[in-house]
Amino acid sequence: MTKRTDYCGRLSSDDIGRTVTVCGWVSKRREHGEFLAFVDLRDRTGIVQCVVDHAHDIRSEYVLAVTGTVRERPPETANNDLPTGSIEIGEATVEILSHAEPPPFQISGRVDVDETIRIRHRYLDLRTSRMQRNLRSRAAINAAIRRSMDDQEFVELETPMLIASTPEGARDFVVPSRLSPGNFYALPQSPQLFKQLCMVGGMDRYYQIARCMRDEDLRADRQFEFTQLDMEMSFVDGREVRAVISEAVSEAAEVITGERPDSIPEIPWSEAMNRYGSDKPDIRFGLELVDLTSVFSDTDFNAFKAPTIKGIKVEAGGDIGRNQLDQLTDKAKSWGAKGLVWVKVGSSGEVTSPVAKFMSEAEISGLLSTMEATEGDICYLVADEWRKVVHVLGLLRLELARPPVNEGGLCFLWVVDFPLFEDVDDDGNPLPAHHPFTMPHADDLELLSKSSVASDLLEVRSQAYDLVLNGWELGSGSVRIHRRDIQQQIFHLLGIGEEESQQKFGFLMDAFRYGAPPHAGFAFGIDRLVALLVGEENIREVIAFPKTQSGTDPLTNAPTSIDQTQLDELGLRVLPPAT
Ligand code: AMO
Ligand code: AMP
Repeated sequence: MTKRTDYCGRLSSDDIGRTVTVCGWVSKRREHGEFLAFVDLRDRTGIVQCVVDHAHDIRSEYVLAVTGTVRERPPETANNDLPTGSIEIGEATVEILSHAEPPPFQISGRVDVDETIRIRHRYLDLRTSRMQRNLRSRAAINAAIRRSMDDQEFVELETPMLIASTPEGARDFVVPSRLSPGNFYALPQSPQLFKQLCMVGGMDRYYQIARCMRDEDLRADRQFEFTQLDMEMSFVDGREVRAVISEAVSEAAEVITGERPDSIPEIPWSEAMNRYGSDKPDIRFGLELVDLTSVFSDTDFNAFKAPTIKGIKVEAGGDIGRNQLDQLTDKAKSWGAKGLVWVKVGSSGEVTSPVAKFMSEAEISGLLSTMEATEGDICYLVADEWRKVVHVLGLLRLELARPPVNEGGLCFLWVVDFPLFEDVDDDGNPLPAHHPFTMPHADDLELLSKSSVASDLLEVRSQAYDLVLNGWELGSGSVRIHRRDIQQQIFHLLGIGEEESQQKFGFLMDAFRYGAPPHAGFAFGIDRLVALLVGEENIREVIAFPKTQSGTDPLTNAPTSIDQTQLDELGLRVLPPAT
């Protein structure tokens, strides 16, 4: 094979006169008369035009080594869209290194191709400029994160993949044990307990770019397998953890955008819920929720006799048709609202609304002044319990105004002071908002020990915090419980009995007997960070070999059945699917 001297995309007018050999794939081929052809050759750096005589036997995606002399293109044939557009490789000779069948989809240009076909032929998809850019950006982001964590004196440790289950709220993927038939390893949902053990082990500052596995329904921001930047620190509070993570994500953002993001603002969870109706607010735009409970405290309108009423205002949004309003109302109902009231503001402050006749003049003027609504605006109102109201208006806010992923800049946000429990299950046990190893807020420890009423428990704050970027939850972390008594109390509250906690978490509780330092940590999803930094709506686009929406891999056909001998060795018998 002729030896490569240069990369296609790196040739420039500085190289005019040089004889070069470039290697790559045929991106395009144009015949010019009978004896002349233009071949656009592509490698990882870009494309260069090669002028060859007879290209009859050359097809798209053939692999070539092309040798020729770099020369200037006649000005009228220069291609300004191409960085190498002012030059070409002339009088080129071609060595065909590999033939190619016509690919199942076009590699150059951005064309819509069915997801399954792209993943089935991922090796071809990876040749596209989109995937090349995304995966190279991902590598640069990983490198920036490593650099930042190394600079901040974190030690990179690898934790095991075959473990006993760690609860992060999803289903485990399990692996049967051959040497211990009938027993199973779980694949880690996260390195949570190992990193806490590392703190007991005096590692002080740990990090890992960790693969995690969770058997949950796939979505745009969820895959079975994903990657976290996982970290833990000793003798610190949440603020120091957030400073370390802010530094790492800022470095990562900077390598992609060229600018360091502003310092990241912090808001308490309750404020996030009240203002944005979400624990992961997209603060690229306004449309904040406004409280109207006091405006309607004495209302005669039955639908508004509720504990909470809030509204959002779309400035100059009054120009919306009845059909669309009905659709929004249906959406609000599908999110759990009993209904949706809209109020349009006319020229002299008069309002149009299907429920105008149920509102008093004082209520209407209170509504308009509280919402600062003026001519041409429209307000949307929901009345219900607080949780329901903020949930529905939070979704409506996104529905009405959320910009596409690649617009509006990067808006990072810390949400702090999460509640310890997010809800109560059907058996009356509270459900942890983060995970069971999260330290309650110091001021709420007493409330925790006194509470026997579930609704009081929901008031207990925790020392958990999330990092949000453009409305996506990027990561979560917390100050951990490092005391056996508090950990036991939490297990007890969660309905995890003595025996179960000993069996599942005995090793952690044992470790806490021998001097556990106060510690805190965090993990953020690298797939999510990369997707947002490169402007992709789905993390699949930044993963080399992802699964489809249904969790399969059309490339390797995973998951597949296994041989009877393998099953026998593992002591497994497969039952027919339940009907
Ligand atoms: P958590 O469960 O919040 O916390 O996960 C941290 C981050 O990991 C990413 N992530 C995912 N990304 C893609 N696909 C998935 N299925 C998926 N699941 C989670 C998200 C999420 O914010 N051990 C704790 C962290 C800690 O307390 O230190 C944990 O794993 O970006
Ligand atoms: P109804 O009294 O159920 O016919 O509702 C009258 C109007 O109020 C309709 O436009 C409903 O969509 C709206 N509505 C009903 N309940 C609520 C609620 N809890 N919050 C906001 N709007 C509501």
